[in-house]
Amino acid sequence: RQIRTPESGTMPPAGRISGGSRERLRRQLGHFFVASCLAFACLCGGLQADIKLRIGHNNDTMRDFIAKIFEKYDKSIPPSMYTGKTTIVRVSLMVHAMSSINVIDMDYSVNMFLRQYWNDTRLAYAHRGYNESLTLNSKKSELWVPDLYFINEKRGNFHEITTPNLLLRVKPSGEVTFSQKLTVKLSCNMDLKKFPMDKQKCHLKMESYGYTTHQLLFEWVAKIDERVEFSDDLELPEFVTPPNISTETCVVKYLT
Ligand SMILES: *[C@@H]1O[C@H](CO)[C@@H](O)[C@H](O)[C@H]1NC(C)=O
Ligand SMILES: *[C@@H]1O[C@H](CO)[C@@H](O)[C@H](O)[C@H]1NC(C)=O
Ligand SMILES: *[C@@H]1O[C@H](CO)[C@@H](O)[C@H](O)[C@H]1NC(C)=O
Ligand SMILES: *[C@@H]1O[C@H](CO)[C@@H](O)[C@H](O)[C@H]1NC(C)=O
Repeated sequence: RQIRTPESGTMPPAGRISGGSRERLRRQLGHFFVASCLAFACLCGGLQADIKLRIGHNNDTMRDFIAKIFEKYDKSIPPSMYTGKTTIVRVSLMVHAMSSINVIDMDYSVNMFLRQYWNDTRLAYAHRGYNESLTLNSKKSELWVPDLYFINEKRGNFHEITTPNLLLRVKPSGEVTFSQKLTVKLSCNMDLKKFPMDKQKCHLKMESYGYTTHQLLFEWVAKIDERVEFSDDLELPEFVTPPNISTETCVVKYLT
């Protein structure tokens, strides 16, 4: 006799719940009860924290404090318009997986964190009397962010489970850290003459879509070994040896 448990996908027929699954049901209800208690406790904690969490010289709530930072902020204007200097955006990558290396379509996929760092002096708030970083993920749509794109991209995905996978943090000095989890499919011209003992050189090229080099310059982060890192549990197809990375910076002229 086979009785399927709720975990295996189908419910057992009514009246035939075995002792084992009843026990499990009780345990699940137990978890649910504990979970609701925790949620309740957190809610209380949150409400209390809100009363204590007044920051800056004016004892603002976090919400008001952030609202003041954004009061005169216009995200359509790049930071360079304020400083009169080129905005340098430093970039680094943390690669989690390289997959779908496809010799027919000549492309491959990379799953990674793309991290960008830049200074936007308009966001600086040290003078308002608060010295901790602010996480502004929910303000992403109100903030100027660089228009970086992958030149040799065929398709890309943002990861949105459970919430959009991004981190947007601002330091009191106005230095912004923007990290996104992405999967991109990139074209790679493969030379298969020596297949299956071949070595391929695949590029991942990034640039600004719309800004000139006077307004915006992408640079790799200063430390060479932090430019492209591989996560400890890097996933590679079995026939791929760990890649050998080199980074370059270049300026391309376009006639538009
Ligand atoms: C902010 O709070 C502190 C301590 O609670 C108080 O001494 C100070 O006067 C308050 N400042 C303002 C601008 O309300
Ligand atoms: C932001 O400005 C500070 C101070 O001028 C500088 O030390 C830092 O490197 C800058 N950050 C970036 C990402 O350019
Ligand atoms: C912020 O200021 C407080 C006291 O004014 C200090 O204890 C704390 O270390 C400072 N934090 C940072 C990140 O500088
Ligand atoms: C990586 O490439 C560089 C030159 O491009 C070479 O000197 C180095 O030996 C290579 N490393 C590995 C592990 O293949």
